[in-house]
Amino acid sequence: DVIDGAGQVLLPGFVDLHTHLREPGREDTETIETGSAAAALGGYTAVFAMANTSPVADSVVVTDHVWRRGQDVGIVDVHPVGAVTVGLEGKQLAEMGTMAAGVGNVRMFSDDGKCVDDPLLMRRALEYASSLGVLIAQHAEEPRLTVGAVAHEGPNAARLGLAGWPRAAEESIVARDALLARDAGTRVHICHASTAGTVELVKWAKGQGISITAEVTPHHLLLDDSRLATYDAVNKVNPPLRETSDVEALRQGLADGTIDCVATDHAPHAEQDKCCEFAAARPGMLGLETALSIVVRTMVEPGLIDWRGVAKVMSERPAEIVGLPDQGRPIEVGEPANLALVDPDASWTVTGPALASIANNTPYEAMTLPGRVTATLLRGRVTARDGVVRSKTDSEIGG
Ligand code: DOR
Ligand code: ZN
Ligand code: ZN
Repeated sequence: DVIDGAGQVLLPGFVDLHTHLREPGREDTETIETGSAAAALGGYTAVFAMANTSPVADSVVVTDHVWRRGQDVGIVDVHPVGAVTVGLEGKQLAEMGTMAAGVGNVRMFSDDGKCVDDPLLMRRALEYASSLGVLIAQHAEEPRLTVGAVAHEGPNAARLGLAGWPRAAEESIVARDALLARDAGTRVHICHASTAGTVELVKWAKGQGISITAEVTPHHLLLDDSRLATYDAVNKVNPPLRETSDVEALRQGLADGTIDCVATDHAPHAEQDKCCEFAAARPGMLGLETALSIVVRTMVEPGLIDWRGVAKVMSERPAEIVGLPDQGRPIEVGEPANLALVDPDASWTVTGPALASIANNTPYEAMTLPGRVTATLLRGRVTARDGVVRSKTDSEIGG
């Protein structure tokens, strides 16, 4: 099976620190198998499956299941993310040590979906994580500032009569956790940065020598709250789409390294939960198959980063942040390779039903995007080629 890479860009396999795969619990919207297919098609060789499943991934039973199921499917490494607390709204820290020691080897814990708003609990979580050498990924939303909020606080929300989601809800937690990490001498990772103020705060914290890292989603790099004009719930996401000045600051922050990496926050939802009234819809968007193209559109085409930079924000930095030894770095001679091959000149038109995810509502419907992943290799084995997933058994049969 010879792959002709003429004119194409060879990158290390992408690493997504933030993926919702919905298994266990909502297999009607995504499974580890369908999410793995989407990941492989998107150029990913490792994804971190968020903990807000049902049951919540707050025990080694769940985290080990996620890892094992991912390995059974065998087309992307599905690393389980453990919940910080027992249950999503828990007041008690989960047994992170047990999850870290399981076969799932959990190296990242998150409160994604429900912020740990108690500062003392968060401080204890950071200290516990630090003693284990694992990372806390903070969802960064002060829930007392987002009661009833469904869209970014601003004129578009007001015109539609939607409750506003202030930037301070995110920024106050980013500031708080930067300071908690400073005092505890620990690391903290900020999920889905969405405001210009968050970029400023992360820059300040890094300047102080605080061990803070941050991710930005493709949708926050591309879309802004003017999308709300159509009142279409495919644009509903948490944190919400912000203003063009925020989008600009996030792009600049990613270009200058203040924001470390791109993470998809791939969040599939059933049709009935997205194609309904905006206020009633669930927040979240598909992201795995479109991420590379959106990075090309928002970062490469405007000259903010080059292909070397794409390797950095899609693979090398996320792998470093979470400590993946075999991802996101140049391959030594003779080593099994995790690779993504990209045709930089290709463009394609997104259609939801053609995506590998079970859920197929997407804000990118009918958009034509640049750049296309033409092949993905996991430890030397082709997992996706020209838009077709190659399962473990395919390659066993096909050689
Ligand atoms: O938009 C979001 N979707 N944000 C979250 O924090 C959770 C996620 C989900 O699970 O759907
Ligand atoms: Zn979140
Ligand atoms: Zn999320």
